[in-house]
Amino acid sequence: MSSSSPDERTLVLIKPDAVRRGLVGEIISRFERKGLQVDAMVQRTLNEDFADQHYAEHVDKPFYPPLKTFMTSGPLVALVLSGDQVIEVVRGMIGVTDGRRAAAGTIRGDLSLSNRENLVHASDSVDSAKREIGLWFPELV
Ligand code: PPS
Repeated sequence: MSSSSPDERTLVLIKPDAVRRGLVGEIISRFERKGLQVDAMVQRTLNEDFADQHYAEHVDKPFYPPLKTFMTSGPLVALVLSGDQVIEVVRGMIGVTDGRRAAAGTIRGDLSLSNRENLVHASDSVDSAKREIGLWFPELV
């Protein structure tokens, strides 16, 4: 029996590269066509402190400085999606981290050639979804 519920939620960031490339509509459209619901959405530009909070588990990793530079380089779109097993469903839809290796048919596999400019972030677990939604949309929790 699945432990998830139809009301499961995840946090998605449509990253600055996707905004610059005019792919926001394409990416949201994929989620909507899948049958997921957009519960909240905002466009904003991250400052360094907020980036550090969002990526708390990665701040000491060697790839973090260029990731932070990229994520603060321009506006992004944050959204909360809900649906049955939405965390796993969205991770499958975006594909693995490196767009060069992501499967065709996934967002990264179809639209990215990078492991940094990979268009989309999505929560990877129930715990991270709760933490990230609380950070980005405290009014929802
Ligand atoms: S880990 O260590 O396995 O948990 O890392 P991973 O989940 O693959 O990636 C975490 C986020 O870091 C980004 N990333 C990078 N950015 C810049 N340069 C390099 N080399 C790099 N490798 C990974 C990756 O895009 C992930 O971002 P999010 O926003 O979580 O998708």
